[in-house]
Amino acid sequence: MCGIIAYLGKKVAQPILIEALKRLEYRGYDSAGVALLGSGAIRIKKTSGRISALEKILDEPDAAETLGIGHTRWATHGKPSTINAHPHLDYTGKIAVVHNGIIENYGTLKTWLQNEGAAFASETDTEVIANLIGYFYAKGDSEEEQKKSDGQNKFEWSVQRALQEMHGTFGLAIVCSDFPDTIIGAKRGSPLILGVGDNEYILASDAAAIVEHTTQAIYLADNEMVTINPEGFHTKTIDNITISKELKQIEFSLEQIELGDFPHHMLKEIFEQPKALSTCMGGRIDSRNNRIKLGGIDSYLRELTRTKRLILIACGTAFHAGLVGEFLFEQLARIPAETEYASEFRYRNPIIEDGTVVISISQSGETIDTLAAVEEAKERGATVLGIVNVVGSSIARTTDTGIYLHAGPEIGVASTKAFTAQVAVLTMLAIELGRRRHIRSDQASKYIDELSQIPDKISQILNQSDHIKQIASANIDQDNWLFLGRGFNYPVALEGALKLKEISYIHAEGLPAAEMKHGPIALIVDGMPVVFIATAGPQYNKIMGNIAEVRARGGKTIVVATEGDENIKQHADHLITIPDVPEFLQPMLTVVPLQLLAYHAAVLRDHDVDKPRNLAKSVTVE
Ligand code: AGP
Ligand code: GLU
Repeated sequence: MCGIIAYLGKKVAQPILIEALKRLEYRGYDSAGVALLGSGAIRIKKTSGRISALEKILDEPDAAETLGIGHTRWATHGKPSTINAHPHLDYTGKIAVVHNGIIENYGTLKTWLQNEGAAFASETDTEVIANLIGYFYAKGDSEEEQKKSDGQNKFEWSVQRALQEMHGTFGLAIVCSDFPDTIIGAKRGSPLILGVGDNEYILASDAAAIVEHTTQAIYLADNEMVTINPEGFHTKTIDNITISKELKQIEFSLEQIELGDFPHHMLKEIFEQPKALSTCMGGRIDSRNNRIKLGGIDSYLRELTRTKRLILIACGTAFHAGLVGEFLFEQLARIPAETEYASEFRYRNPIIEDGTVVISISQSGETIDTLAAVEEAKERGATVLGIVNVVGSSIARTTDTGIYLHAGPEIGVASTKAFTAQVAVLTMLAIELGRRRHIRSDQASKYIDELSQIPDKISQILNQSDHIKQIASANIDQDNWLFLGRGFNYPVALEGALKLKEISYIHAEGLPAAEMKHGPIALIVDGMPVVFIATAGPQYNKIMGNIAEVRARGGKTIVVATEGDENIKQHADHLITIPDVPEFLQPMLTVVPLQLLAYHAAVLRDHDVDKPRNLAKSVTVE
């Protein structure tokens, strides 16, 4: 899931690469490096650690170097170290590569290249790419090889030959010291976008690194490559077939990805949720006619209305949103639904009968397990929808149709506003399908009216941030927590546990509350924090019983309840309240206290909230 950047233009490349890498650092951050090209040999600087560690070892920028590539890594093959950091040079020293992805046949290729005399320095799969290109480049001088090339120069030809041998995924930026004015990019399975500026080009893993230079971009598709030089760029398939690509507008602005007055992106994005949901639902909720308009799927609404079964596929937080969706489709639309981990779905030989529609959910639109599950579902004949945040992302382009979240860029590794926006989209879809199937219009208008008030109700909860910080502080010394909920709030319990785990490194488990007595209750010890979502709803009394079971064993109860519930006060060691809404709308509210709990716990534990250890924002490797 690392970040790739490449620059070619009139400006000095080094500072541009470093600033861009800082904007990509949320994608992976165990090591970093740059390669600069002026008139001479390729100059590489790389190190383990963050971009800040790289900055410490850089030379002064050289005005002659107006071309370069950079990388911030999330290691898959070879531990985080300086030697395994990218860029990687080939054995001739002429080719430098930065890579996002996994080359699955790297072992075979490495052995073959070693037998052909190529030397290796690192443990990575990426170095195989560099050496494979270097190998073909060296061979490219031979007579018979030159005959094979068809209108492309030796650099481009050697890249194509190498890519044709590689299995697995790649987003690549490649330079060659014999072509100091050229950058080649190539994509398969990992994202790659070319920003087209005024006589300058920025190739990057995502638009966050491009948007301060230009908002015009082309999005490469799988097995496509781009060759960039001062005269312009041309796009081809990796089999050397020329293709034309449409320039698209990058939808977000620079200040949307900057911190502003917030200490962390995660806190900014938690507080952005009212605005993000208003934007997500704006233009889609027609309160006057009590209708939901989801333009992107208009031509599929008849099929969706008649569908016999929905399968939701996703990973992580998006999976938890999918679980809420499962409840929504069953209860509001009366459509059988099941939510699957995308990583399991793709390998399980799933049964897709006629009438099945698959809905994939992904903030980044690049999660490789979800992308592969989408492709699997399509191959088996399903109509596949995408609920995605990043416009133009791979999943958005691979699904038959979809609904964008329009939640704005989410930079914090821990997903927050994307979750509530995903649930909002699923809620709108479930109401609309329900209305088309059996919900009376006046009932639908009540649901729509309640839904449109959710952003304001989230704002009310955000005012409790300091109170929630006190709760986190009182329990920060505990290394094992439980999160329990029932019905629509069971997926929220899972999401709360994930949030706490991934940024505070406290072990936490989310469970349906009734499941606790089937084993996990053995974990309860004196002072152990147990977070309950005990809001008004059909299972309120049942969850009160679970609270009693925990308190009887010395557990510390942190309870999310509905405003005005006087009964709960005597059962909660710590109490957080949410405004009263119907159960099916509660997840967008009950998740907010859990997001803040996790955020404050991580800050109090002095962790890097936006770049937690071992994680990255977009999981583009398996
Ligand atoms: C959530 O906080 C995590 N960062 C992670 O579980 C994430 O939700 C998961 O990787 C899916 O990402 P996606 O929504 O971009 O597909
Ligand atoms: N597989 C490459 C490496 O381990 C790239 C990893 C990534 O995409 O994050 O260096």
